[in-house]
Amino acid sequence: MTHEIPESDLLRMARDAARDAYAPYSGFRVGAALLAGSGKVYTGFNVENASYGATCCAERIAFYRALAAGERTFRAIAVTGGRPGETETDCPPCGICLQVMREFCDPGQFLILLASRKAPLAAFLPFGFSLDDSTGSV
Ligand code: THU
Repeated sequence: MTHEIPESDLLRMARDAARDAYAPYSGFRVGAALLAGSGKVYTGFNVENASYGATCCAERIAFYRALAAGERTFRAIAVTGGRPGETETDCPPCGICLQVMREFCDPGQFLILLASRKAPLAAFLPFGFSLDDSTGSV
């Protein structure tokens, strides 16, 4: 359980979101379901671009949607990814997305759920950059 929402539900929401991914270049569809402090869930999927660097990951879209809705605290995120028809494997967040999470989340508390394992943000980004003195909170 991640507070009110079972982890399996959050993963299911991430998988559902991945179906709508805009990924014509990689064919790799990622979905994210972010549980905010309010208890609401914000989903996201990757949005690619012909200018590859303009691509945005599913996790950041979920975060930016939540932030735009006024959320400022976060509990957990489920992330799933893969190519349609392939067996699901774990899809850990990229370094840029981890850095965005570090901006808004307590590394020891915020939980990242993958298809077959889970760990707090601190396990994925043990010495993340931040402008406060909690940097390196492992
Ligand atoms: N991708 C994500 O959406 N999240 C990640 O954390 C890793 C990568 C997307 C970006 C791109 O559209 C595709 O996966 C292949 O890299």
